[in-house]
Amino acid sequence: AVGAEEFVPDSRRIDRLRKAAADCRGCDLYRHADRVVFGEGPVSARLLLVGEQPGDREDRAGHPFVGPAGRILDEALEQAGVARSQVYLTNVVKHFKFTRPEGRRRLHKTPGRTEIVACLPWLAAELAAVKPRVVVCLGATAAKALLGNRFRVTRRRGELLDPAADPDVTVDERVADLLPRVLATMHPSAVLRGRPEERAAAVADLADDLSAAHRAA
Ligand code: URA
Ligand code: SF4
Repeated sequence: AVGAEEFVPDSRRIDRLRKAAADCRGCDLYRHADRVVFGEGPVSARLLLVGEQPGDREDRAGHPFVGPAGRILDEALEQAGVARSQVYLTNVVKHFKFTRPEGRRRLHKTPGRTEIVACLPWLAAELAAVKPRVVVCLGATAAKALLGNRFRVTRRRGELLDPAADPDVTVDERVADLLPRVLATMHPSAVLRGRPEERAAAVADLADDLSAAHRAA
């Protein structure tokens, strides 16, 4: 497996892309996941949100952000006054990576550089099809994939960045011409992992960032 490139059709039609992604063998993740989880939302969306990879629930359903992290995202979008149906929602990696401890449920495993690099042609194709005004990176995996390994969400969270002119940013050449302004924020799963008494404030912070991105788009 040498990446998704050879599986990505030369098309900007999202339905063609989605259909072709189901047959991708660009890295080893397709072997164990149930199905590909492609991005969803209107191609006319001005705002494109990128997460990390589908989780257990997304893998079963075939749709992005339908599990626990999705509920946090929905809450934050609602607080921000942004309709989910109005944004294009996708992930850096399109197949679920997990470990399965003996007899137990599947546990999310963070995708590695290999899978992120392998899967990037799909995100590039989505960016070319949707042409968003603003991209939101949800968490470090998305931020590193699009803004380079040196980028630190913790330092630049909530800023509207111009990737071409930012000293902290090194854009992969495959998406360099496709990236509009980018705002990086925390991943909804990080809200879930945080302390319960801090959850409401964390959702509000996420909502603030989504609202800022929405206004800029
Ligand atoms: N986490 C993600 O990054 N994406 C999903 O689709 C679900 C959980
Ligand atoms: Fe292809 Fe991406 Fe799935 Fe790997 S994770 S098989 S590159 S769609």
